[in-house]
Amino acid sequence: MKTAAQTQTETQTQAQTEAQSQTQTQTHRTIAPQILYFGTPVVLLTSENPDGSANLAPLSSAWALGQAVVLGLGTSGQTAANLRERPDLVINLPPPALWPQVERLAPLTGRHPVPPGKQGTFRYERDKFAAAGLTPQPADLVRPPRVAECPLQFEARAARVQPDVTGAFLIIEAHVLRVHAAPQLTVPGTDHVDPGAWSPLIYNFRHYFGLGAQLGHTFRSETAATR
Ligand SMILES: Cc1cc2nc3c(=O)[nH]c(=O)nc-3n(C[C@H](O)[C@H](O)[C@H](O)COP(=O)(O)O)c2cc1C
Repeated sequence: MKTAAQTQTETQTQAQTEAQSQTQTQTHRTIAPQILYFGTPVVLLTSENPDGSANLAPLSSAWALGQAVVLGLGTSGQTAANLRERPDLVINLPPPALWPQVERLAPLTGRHPVPPGKQGTFRYERDKFAAAGLTPQPADLVRPPRVAECPLQFEARAARVQPDVTGAFLIIEAHVLRVHAAPQLTVPGTDHVDPGAWSPLIYNFRHYFGLGAQLGHTFRSETAATR
């Protein structure tokens, strides 16, 4: 006949074994993260304020589709207000070394007064170029300036601006009109960006990363022979 203590030990051992086997077979956990920023390049977006001055904001919700770039913008920011009224913009791509300058822009808004949802976390800054230690450079076709320190710059115009499903963001389809690239990033004699020379700054769940080493290239790469 088993004692009560023996029975308890046996039950505990059985529960432990079950938990272990569950851990071994379970490949994923169900989680509810606050953010889904799974690693996209940072862009510095310039837009035009009502008084003609430039606003500058870091964004990571940006992806390219042919000659368009789709952007996701919080509705309460100054960039969203600007692009609703004045569609010109420049998409500036910072390299990994510029992350401290990007982070200097992180707590700033060009919106005055600071909107309720940003109060206590963000402060108003009129001259974000100076605040970040970055240099404005005139664009050719649009009114906001480029960021001189960014080796890739896309002059663009917001062609379609619409609310997202939650109402908290604007989805902007920007048509790229002109691309500026630092010569050392291009394959000489071609219009190709050399993927071995260019490296984006990646925003990965609110941490900054550069790219690792190249793994390979797709069968359609125009620059496969360069590296
Ligand atoms: C690296 C980084 C990425 C960001 N990505 C986005 C984004 O994709 N969309 C967005 O609305 N805000 C994004 N933000 C927050 C905006 O930069 C922030 O709301 C800023 O105050 C906007 O400035 P504005 O009000 O002058 O437009 C990001 C911030 C950082 C630092």
